[in-house]
Amino acid sequence: MPDARMLCFWVALCCGFVPFILGDIPANFTDQSLLEVPKNISVATTHLYLDHNYIHTLRKDGLAHLLNLQYLSVQYNQLSIIEKHAFRGTSLNKIVVSNNQLRVFPYLLDISDTLTSFRIVNNGLRVIKEEDLQGLNNLEKLFLSNNDIYKVPDIINILPSLYHLDFANLNMECCDKVFALTFFTNETLDVRLMPCSSPPELVGEIWWNIDPEAINKPCAVYEICVCFI
Ligand SMILES: *[C@@H]1O[C@H](CO)[C@@H](O)[C@H](O)[C@H]1NC(C)=O
Ligand SMILES: *[C@@H]1O[C@H](CO)[C@@H](O)[C@H](O)[C@H]1NC(C)=O
Ligand SMILES: *[C@@H]1O[C@H](CO)[C@@H](O)[C@H](O)[C@H]1NC(C)=O
Repeated sequence: MPDARMLCFWVALCCGFVPFILGDIPANFTDQSLLEVPKNISVATTHLYLDHNYIHTLRKDGLAHLLNLQYLSVQYNQLSIIEKHAFRGTSLNKIVVSNNQLRVFPYLLDISDTLTSFRIVNNGLRVIKEEDLQGLNNLEKLFLSNNDIYKVPDIINILPSLYHLDFANLNMECCDKVFALTFFTNETLDVRLMPCSSPPELVGEIWWNIDPEAINKPCAVYEICVCFI
Protein backbone atom coordinates (compact mmCIF):
# COMPACT_ATOMS: atom_id res chain seq x y z
CA MET A 1 0.00 0.00 0.00
CA PRO A 2 2.62 2.57 -1.00
CA ASP A 3 0.04 5.32 -1.59
CA ALA A 4 -1.42 5.01 1.87
CA ARG A 5 2.06 5.01 3.41
CA MET A 6 2.98 8.12 1.45
CA LEU A 7 -0.20 9.84 2.58
CA CYS A 8 0.59 8.95 6.19
CA PHE A 9 4.05 10.36 5.75
CA TRP A 10 2.81 13.72 4.47
CA VAL A 11 0.09 13.95 7.09
CA ALA A 12 2.70 13.27 9.73
CA LEU A 13 5.01 15.92 8.31
CA CYS A 14 2.28 18.53 8.14
CA CYS A 15 1.04 17.81 11.61
CA GLY A 16 4.46 17.93 13.21
CA PHE A 17 4.77 14.25 14.04
CA VAL A 18 8.00 14.02 12.10
CA PRO A 19 10.13 12.33 14.77
CA PHE A 20 7.94 9.25 14.93
CA ILE A 21 8.91 8.58 11.33
CA LEU A 22 12.33 10.09 10.94
CA GLY A 23 13.84 9.56 14.39
CA ASP A 24 15.66 12.18 16.45
CA ILE A 25 15.99 15.65 15.02
CA PRO A 26 18.66 17.63 16.85
CA ALA A 27 19.23 21.35 16.96
CA ASN A 28 22.68 22.06 18.31
CA PHE A 29 23.42 25.59 19.51
CA THR A 30 26.31 24.61 21.78
CA ASP A 31 28.89 27.35 22.43
CA GLN A 32 27.40 30.09 20.25
CA SER A 33 27.62 32.95 22.80
CA LEU A 34 23.82 33.06 22.98
CA LEU A 35 22.19 35.36 25.54
CA GLU A 36 18.69 34.06 24.83
CA VAL A 37 17.06 30.91 23.53
CA PRO A 38 17.01 31.40 19.73
CA LYS A 39 13.61 32.08 18.23
CA ASN A 40 14.25 30.31 14.93
CA ILE A 41 14.40 26.70 16.13
CA SER A 42 12.64 24.29 13.78
CA VAL A 43 9.32 22.92 15.02
CA ALA A 44 10.51 19.43 14.08
CA THR A 45 13.29 19.57 16.68
CA THR A 46 13.26 16.71 19.18
CA HIS A 47 16.64 17.32 20.87
CA LEU A 48 17.78 20.84 21.70
CA TYR A 49 21.33 21.54 22.88
CA LEU A 50 22.05 25.02 24.30
CA ASP A 51 25.11 24.19 26.42
CA HIS A 52 28.00 26.61 27.04
CA ASN A 53 26.17 29.84 26.29
CA TYR A 54 25.22 32.86 28.43
CA ILE A 55 21.49 32.28 28.69
CA HIS A 56 20.16 33.61 32.02
CA THR A 57 16.41 33.10 31.66
CA LEU A 58 14.10 30.46 30.21
CA ARG A 59 11.01 32.48 29.45
CA LYS A 60 7.38 31.59 29.82
CA ASP A 61 6.22 29.71 26.71
CA GLY A 62 9.67 30.27 25.17
CA LEU A 63 9.69 26.70 23.86
CA ALA A 64 5.96 26.36 23.39
CA HIS A 65 6.11 26.03 19.60
CA LEU A 66 8.44 23.01 19.93
CA LEU A 67 5.71 20.46 20.40
CA ASN A 68 8.06 17.60 19.44
CA LEU A 69 10.78 18.56 21.87
CA GLN A 70 11.78 15.60 24.04
CA TYR A 71 15.26 16.49 25.26
CA LEU A 72 16.59 19.85 26.41
CA SER A 73 20.09 20.56 27.63
CA VAL A 74 21.04 24.01 28.94
CA GLN A 75 24.23 23.24 30.86
CA TYR A 76 27.02 25.70 31.66
CA ASN A 77 24.98 28.82 31.09
CA GLN A 78 24.04 31.59 33.53
CA LEU A 79 20.54 30.39 34.18
CA SER A 80 19.10 31.94 37.28
CA ILE A 81 15.45 32.17 36.25
CA ILE A 82 13.16 29.54 34.78
CA GLU A 83 9.81 31.27 34.47
CA LYS A 84 6.62 29.40 35.29
CA HIS A 85 5.34 27.58 32.17
CA ALA A 86 8.75 27.74 30.48
CA PHE A 87 8.26 24.14 29.29
CA ARG A 88 4.57 24.35 28.40
CA GLY A 89 3.63 22.96 24.99
CA THR A 90 6.63 20.63 24.66
CA SER A 91 6.87 16.84 25.01
CA LEU A 92 9.99 17.00 27.17
CA ASN A 93 10.99 13.77 28.84
CA LYS A 94 14.57 14.71 29.77
CA ILE A 95 15.81 18.10 30.96
CA VAL A 96 19.36 18.95 31.97
CA VAL A 97 20.01 22.35 33.55
CA SER A 98 23.19 21.49 35.44
CA ASN A 99 26.00 23.95 36.14
CA ASN A 100 23.95 27.12 36.36
CA GLN A 101 22.88 29.47 39.14
CA LEU A 102 19.38 28.28 39.86
CA ARG A 103 18.32 28.89 43.45
CA VAL A 104 14.72 27.83 43.00
CA PHE A 105 13.41 24.49 41.78
CA PRO A 106 11.50 25.19 38.54
CA TYR A 107 7.86 24.56 37.75
CA LEU A 108 7.61 21.25 35.88
CA LEU A 109 3.95 20.35 36.14
CA ASP A 110 3.22 21.39 32.53
CA ILE A 111 5.20 18.37 31.40
CA SER A 112 4.26 15.92 34.16
CA ASP A 113 2.84 13.48 31.58
CA THR A 114 6.14 13.14 29.74
CA LEU A 115 8.99 14.06 32.11
CA THR A 116 11.03 11.06 33.26
CA SER A 117 14.42 12.57 34.05
CA PHE A 118 15.43 15.93 35.52
CA ARG A 119 19.02 16.95 36.18
CA ILE A 120 19.77 20.12 38.13
CA VAL A 121 23.24 19.27 39.40
CA ASN A 122 25.62 21.99 40.61
CA ASN A 123 23.32 24.94 41.05
CA GLY A 124 22.47 26.87 44.20
CA LEU A 125 19.42 24.97 45.44
CA ARG A 126 18.90 25.10 49.21
CA VAL A 127 15.48 23.56 49.66
CA ILE A 128 13.26 21.13 47.79
CA LYS A 129 9.60 21.62 48.60
CA GLU A 130 6.79 19.13 48.42
CA GLU A 131 4.87 21.31 45.96
CA ASP A 132 7.88 21.34 43.62
CA LEU A 133 7.55 17.60 43.12
CA GLN A 134 3.88 16.85 43.71
CA GLY A 135 2.23 15.56 40.52
CA LEU A 136 5.43 14.57 38.68
CA ASN A 137 4.04 11.09 38.47
CA ASN A 138 6.30 9.81 35.70
CA LEU A 139 9.59 11.14 37.04
CA GLU A 140 12.01 8.22 37.32
CA LYS A 141 15.34 9.94 37.86
CA LEU A 142 16.15 13.09 39.77
CA PHE A 143 19.68 14.46 39.98
CA LEU A 144 20.29 16.99 42.76
CA SER A 145 23.95 16.53 43.62
CA ASN A 146 26.34 19.45 44.17
CA ASN A 147 23.78 21.82 45.60
CA ASP A 148 23.47 23.18 49.14
CA ILE A 149 20.26 21.41 50.00
CA TYR A 150 19.55 21.20 53.72
CA LYS A 151 15.88 20.30 53.62
CA VAL A 152 13.94 17.70 51.61
CA PRO A 153 10.33 16.51 51.71
CA ASP A 154 9.24 12.87 51.60
CA ILE A 155 10.54 12.46 48.04
CA ILE A 156 10.04 8.74 47.65
CA ASN A 157 6.37 8.90 48.58
CA ILE A 158 5.66 12.03 46.53
CA LEU A 159 7.18 10.62 43.32
CA PRO A 160 5.57 7.25 42.58
CA SER A 161 7.83 6.36 39.63
CA LEU A 162 11.15 7.46 41.10
CA TYR A 163 13.88 4.86 41.16
CA HIS A 164 17.03 6.95 41.20
CA LEU A 165 17.79 9.95 43.39
CA ASP A 166 21.21 11.47 42.99
CA PHE A 167 22.09 13.32 46.17
CA ALA A 168 25.83 12.82 45.98
CA ASN A 169 28.52 15.28 47.01
CA LEU A 170 26.34 16.92 49.57
CA ASN A 171 27.46 17.54 53.10
CA MET A 172 24.35 17.28 55.17
CA GLU A 173 23.25 18.22 58.58
CA CYS A 174 21.87 14.78 59.43
CA CYS A 175 18.71 15.73 61.27
CA ASP A 176 14.96 15.56 60.74
CA LYS A 177 15.06 18.01 57.82
CA VAL A 178 16.61 15.25 55.69
CA PHE A 179 15.01 12.29 57.47
CA ALA A 180 13.06 11.38 54.30
CA LEU A 181 16.33 10.28 52.71
CA THR A 182 16.42 7.34 55.09
CA PHE A 183 13.44 5.82 53.23
CA PHE A 184 15.69 5.12 50.23
CA THR A 185 17.81 2.02 49.72
CA ASN A 186 21.33 1.92 48.34
CA GLU A 187 19.77 0.84 45.03
CA THR A 188 17.71 4.02 44.71
CA LEU A 189 19.78 6.70 46.46
CA ASP A 190 23.20 7.88 45.40
CA VAL A 191 24.66 9.61 48.42
CA ARG A 192 28.12 10.26 49.82
CA LEU A 193 29.47 7.37 51.83
CA MET A 194 29.87 9.62 54.89
CA PRO A 195 27.61 12.58 54.21
CA CYS A 196 26.97 13.98 57.68
CA SER A 197 28.65 17.25 58.59
CA SER A 198 26.75 17.21 61.88
CA PRO A 199 25.76 16.24 64.53
CA PRO A 200 29.25 15.33 65.79
CA GLU A 201 28.33 11.72 66.63
CA LEU A 202 27.36 11.05 62.98
CA VAL A 203 30.32 12.73 61.31
CA GLY A 204 32.39 10.00 59.66
CA GLU A 205 29.64 7.41 59.95
CA ILE A 206 28.73 5.44 56.85
CA TRP A 207 25.24 6.51 55.76
CA TRP A 208 23.94 2.99 55.30
CA ASN A 209 24.98 2.01 58.82
CA ILE A 210 23.24 4.90 60.54
CA ASP A 211 20.07 4.11 62.47
CA PRO A 212 17.31 6.29 60.97
CA GLU A 213 16.23 7.22 64.48
CA ALA A 214 19.58 8.95 64.96
CA ILE A 215 18.62 11.26 62.07
CA ASN A 216 15.02 11.79 63.15
CA LYS A 217 15.97 14.52 65.60
CA PRO A 218 15.70 18.29 65.43
CA CYS A 219 18.62 20.06 63.84
CA ALA A 220 20.89 21.46 66.48
CA VAL A 221 21.71 25.10 66.68
CA TYR A 222 25.44 25.33 67.00
CA GLU A 223 27.02 28.26 68.70
CA ILE A 224 29.74 29.88 66.75
CA CYS A 225 32.83 30.28 68.85
CA VAL A 226 34.96 33.24 67.99
CA CYS A 227 38.21 32.99 69.85
CA PHE A 228 40.47 35.97 70.37
CA ILE A 229 43.96 35.06 71.32
C1 LIG B 1 27.00 20.03 19.37
O1 LIG B 1 28.04 20.86 18.88
C2 LIG B 1 29.20 20.85 19.67
C3 LIG B 1 30.15 21.94 19.18
O2 LIG B 1 30.09 22.06 17.81
C4 LIG B 1 29.80 19.46 19.64
O3 LIG B 1 30.98 19.42 20.41
C5 LIG B 1 28.78 18.49 20.20
O4 LIG B 1 29.28 17.17 20.12
C6 LIG B 1 27.47 18.59 19.45
N1 LIG B 1 26.48 17.80 20.18
C7 LIG B 1 25.68 16.93 19.58
C8 LIG B 1 24.76 16.17 20.46
O5 LIG B 1 25.67 16.75 18.39
C1 LIG C 1 19.09 31.23 14.29
O1 LIG C 1 19.43 32.24 15.23
C2 LIG C 1 20.77 32.17 15.67
C3 LIG C 1 20.98 33.22 16.74
O2 LIG C 1 19.83 33.65 17.34
C4 LIG C 1 21.71 32.38 14.49
O3 LIG C 1 23.05 32.25 14.94
C5 LIG C 1 21.43 31.33 13.44
O4 LIG C 1 22.21 31.60 12.28
C6 LIG C 1 19.97 31.32 13.05
N1 LIG C 1 19.72 30.17 12.19
C7 LIG C 1 18.94 30.23 11.13
C8 LIG C 1 18.79 28.94 10.38
O5 LIG C 1 18.35 31.24 10.77
C1 LIG D 1 23.25 -2.56 48.41
O1 LIG D 1 23.42 -3.25 49.62
C2 LIG D 1 23.32 -4.65 49.48
C3 LIG D 1 23.32 -5.29 50.88
O2 LIG D 1 23.98 -4.51 51.82
C4 LIG D 1 24.48 -5.12 48.61
O3 LIG D 1 24.43 -6.53 48.44
C5 LIG D 1 24.38 -4.46 47.25
O4 LIG D 1 25.48 -4.79 46.45
C6 LIG D 1 24.33 -2.95 47.39
N1 LIG D 1 24.03 -2.36 46.11
C7 LIG D 1 24.63 -1.25 45.67
C8 LIG D 1 24.17 -0.72 44.35
O5 LIG D 1 25.51 -0.69 46.31
